[in-house]
Amino acid sequence: MSEAVLNVEDLALSYPGGVQALRGVSLQVRPGEVLGIAGESGCGKSTLASAMISLLSSGAEITGGAVYLRGENLMALSERDRRRLRGREIAMVFQDPLTAFNPVLRIGEQLVDFQVNAEGSSREKRRRAAAMLSKVGLEPDLALSRFPHELSGGMRQRAAIAAALLMRPAVLIADEPTTALDVTMEAQIIHLLRELQAEVGCAIVIVTHHLGVIAELCDRVAVMYAGEVVEVAPVDDLYHDPLHPYTRALLSCDPSALVEHTGHLPTIGGRLPDLADPPPGCAFAPRCPLASESCATPPPRVRPAPAREVLCHKVAP
Ligand SMILES: Nc1ncnc2c1ncn2[C@@H]1O[C@H](COP(=O)(O)OP(=O)(O)OP(=O)(O)O)[C@@H](O)[C@H]1O
Ligand SMILES: [Mg+2]
Repeated sequence: MSEAVLNVEDLALSYPGGVQALRGVSLQVRPGEVLGIAGESGCGKSTLASAMISLLSSGAEITGGAVYLRGENLMALSERDRRRLRGREIAMVFQDPLTAFNPVLRIGEQLVDFQVNAEGSSREKRRRAAAMLSKVGLEPDLALSRFPHELSGGMRQRAAIAAALLMRPAVLIADEPTTALDVTMEAQIIHLLRELQAEVGCAIVIVTHHLGVIAELCDRVAVMYAGEVVEVAPVDDLYHDPLHPYTRALLSCDPSALVEHTGHLPTIGGRLPDLADPPPGCAFAPRCPLASESCATPPPRVRPAPAREVLCHKVAP
């Protein structure tokens, strides 16, 4: 197994009001892999994605653990060094691609600016920008001269992906990059990410609550619940043999996983625990069909197979 490029170690993060958004998350991103992060709304996916690029929203406080990029502790760096790494080693694509661009500058100008750390004249950088735009399926001459609002949502997301890749990152982090798009556009973007991943060879971390996207794109999946990673598995194992009761519930809620169409979707009963006052034991126990007395104590992290990890009292090692 190759050395992790990004290593999240026992990371704990709180927001104002004592919301414990991450509660001891450990997760490794390996070079060149596509890692999916799944889970219900509010379970901490975006918080983890932003911590991976050390781009925390104001008021967020790391209360334990660390994130290492090739062995370097991101949290111990100065803001200036973090910015430098963000430009070079890690890039992020957001749900709303407008956030990636300055509204008053043309796309071409911005794609040149994004290459601030790269060698070459600005003409050379413009040529690189044009080449990357055609790689993501945009007509370069047209896209270079447009303002961000002059592109459709799908085109903008392609341009944002081009911008991220121009930095030649070792890790591309994408937070719900297809959520704002229609189904056809979503399929195109996923196809594009897969192609680019094969070509550029960067690792991709993709956050989504859409399990279909994960099945299409990912090598490995981390399932989050209430600020914890409750299961990690290769994608085929997760779909064919989900071990955590929460993963099972999530899969049975996913419309694309339903074999028969019954007209309505099953939902997981109950809701996420209050993250300002999480329960001492298993956070999923109140909603879990298998819960028993032992689940009132913290669940063990079980490793039932070399590449698998489950946080549950009910899974035999
Ligand atoms: N800036 C913030 N200030 C305070 N609380 C926050 C902030 N951002 C997120 N939270 C809280 O932290 C928890 C985790 O939020 P996060 O956005 O990481 O979840 P998520 O899994 O990405 O959800 P979604 O699927 O809706 O995007 C939630 O309880 C949320 O309300
Ligand atoms: Mg989110």
